[in-house]
Amino acid sequence: MDSPASSKCMIISTLNAVCGILLPAAHGRLLAYDYSSGRLVDEAGIDIVLVGDSLAMTMLGYENTLSVTLDEMLHHVKAVRRGVKHALLIADMPYGSYHVSADDAVRNAARYVKEGGAEAVKVEGGEKRADLIRRIIDAEIPVAGHIGLTPQSVNMMGGYRVQGKDLTAIEHLMRDAVALDRAGVACIYLEGIPREVAAMITTEVKTPTIGIGAGPDCDGQVLVFHDILNLTFQQPAKFVRRYGDAAAEITHAVQSYRADVLSHQYPSDAESYHLPKETKAALDPMLERKHAMRR
Ligand code: KIV
Repeated sequence: MDSPASSKCMIISTLNAVCGILLPAAHGRLLAYDYSSGRLVDEAGIDIVLVGDSLAMTMLGYENTLSVTLDEMLHHVKAVRRGVKHALLIADMPYGSYHVSADDAVRNAARYVKEGGAEAVKVEGGEKRADLIRRIIDAEIPVAGHIGLTPQSVNMMGGYRVQGKDLTAIEHLMRDAVALDRAGVACIYLEGIPREVAAMITTEVKTPTIGIGAGPDCDGQVLVFHDILNLTFQQPAKFVRRYGDAAAEITHAVQSYRADVLSHQYPSDAESYHLPKETKAALDPMLERKHAMRR
């Protein structure tokens, strides 16, 4: 039997044709938050780059995602846009930017497109966001959905807990997924749900699913740049796989530089600029005379 990912290929290519968005199945998605990380991720062949509101913590040191503003997000979206030439760029709508009114939401989403150069926006929530999502799509802006453990709802959820663990919660999640599918989202991020539920959703909806802490049966996967590189200063969640230790690399590099400066090993002559020969020839006798007078 086909896996959910491979059976979604045909639908995904239909989506390509309709939206002009490249969304191949089972490829990597990653988050990036500035020019250099955006560029590295893009050049490594990642096909969707999400500027996620988790930058509130990873880049700005906030406690959670609730504090980050649209203007702060926009600043990062613009930087990532300058680094990303090939991948699809999705910008995350922060808390408060789509909760007041649909007009507000469309205006804010349009800023991401107009000022930030994003190709799509992401909105958290399922059934209750469906009409709002239709309004944004009506404004010619593709929308990515996001259900399951939605961090902007942390206070309503009573903490960051895996969602969809009992039958009622599973039914709720299925309704959310179907509502997003019908609203016409470009993809659905599934965060922090049991793999069995993610597999059911992936089979049920025609929209590609992208998992983060949702098991291997989603159509694609996304991870936070800082998580895979050990740049978060905290214990990683169960689903995070570390592919590098940038914290150790950075610490080692900075400590080595400091030690080299203190011991006068840096900079060397080879790392210095030199006067042109003629200037040096004219300057040397002048310095000689100066030294002689001091003696
Ligand atoms: O900001 C974030 O980290 C997200 C995840 C779904 C990837 O939105």
